[in-house]
Amino acid sequence: MSQMPKDMVKCKICVLPSRTGWPALEAHFSELCLTLPDWYSRHRLFSRYDEGILLDRESWFSVTPEAIAARIAERCRCNVVLDLFCGAGGNAIQFAMTCNKVIAIDVDPIKIEMARHNAAIYGVQDRITFLVGDAVEFCRDWTEGREGLVDIDVVFLSPPWGGTDYQKGQADSEPPAPPLAASLLDESFDASATEKRKQSADAHTKSRYTHYPLSALSPLSGQDLYAMASKITPEVVMFLPRSCDLDELSRLPLRHSDQDTDSEGENERPILSIEEQFLGSSFKALSVYFGSLATDWDDDRETGYA
Ligand SMILES: C[S@@+](CC[C@H](N)C(=O)[O-])C[C@H]1O[C@@H](n2cnc3c(N)ncnc32)[C@H](O)[C@@H]1O
Repeated sequence: MSQMPKDMVKCKICVLPSRTGWPALEAHFSELCLTLPDWYSRHRLFSRYDEGILLDRESWFSVTPEAIAARIAERCRCNVVLDLFCGAGGNAIQFAMTCNKVIAIDVDPIKIEMARHNAAIYGVQDRITFLVGDAVEFCRDWTEGREGLVDIDVVFLSPPWGGTDYQKGQADSEPPAPPLAASLLDESFDASATEKRKQSADAHTKSRYTHYPLSALSPLSGQDLYAMASKITPEVVMFLPRSCDLDELSRLPLRHSDQDTDSEGENERPILSIEEQFLGSSFKALSVYFGSLATDWDDDRETGYA
């Protein structure tokens, strides 16, 4: 196991059966307060967690669980993969198992140190080039020829979704129950009134059930992130919230170079393939594949990953 970087202190973790609702109290006891379910999920994030994996507060809630990262890495098997938002290394480590070279970038130097340390635990640090920097700047430099030292086969993006509260203001996968009960109390039974109530309840449900908009991603909107990555290669993967609007995804514009050669004109859209990522029975996220990653993959192929 590699040594912990000198300037890094392992998070003091306090595990609570549930949130107290008093953040100041939680903060007093630890740098990082986890609930029991969060703590029990540690081996799902990294199966080798007990060998000294380092995670900071943000990474606990944003690292891609190992089985999902392995599944994505299997589909992205190639020579060089660019992981633009590598965080604590959840995806980068798995890419290093299926690809010859990984370029892993994060704007936060602590994340890069954690990712380097975590990669050493898995014995794959030599296949990963870690860079501290801004993903947008890197892509701009690469497309302008300043970073183009190697050919990049696949670009992977798992941008920040907006913290643990990213679903606030959006309904969960279960839409809320329609408010029928109260109105049934004050009216005698009447089929047409019941139908009207149902319509109004449906409208109420729809108004509360909103999707995660691609504009909420950072540091750029999903549309701009895709445009940026697809200038490097058509082989792009985006790891996105499960509540993304599939219609919005399907309206992503065609990449620039394809527009030039495309005689059909502006209504053409890139072909994409969306994989729903489950961990056990829990629906975690969407992986959206573009280019030949979308068209040349056999869904029935046995990968050995759940
Ligand atoms: C969702 S996390 C990535 C998790 C990672 N895939 C994993 O499995 O460990 C998003 C990461 O993007 C990084 N980030 C945010 N803005 C960035 C930028 N402009 N350029 C590069 N990295 C950025 C954050 O520091 C954070 O570590």
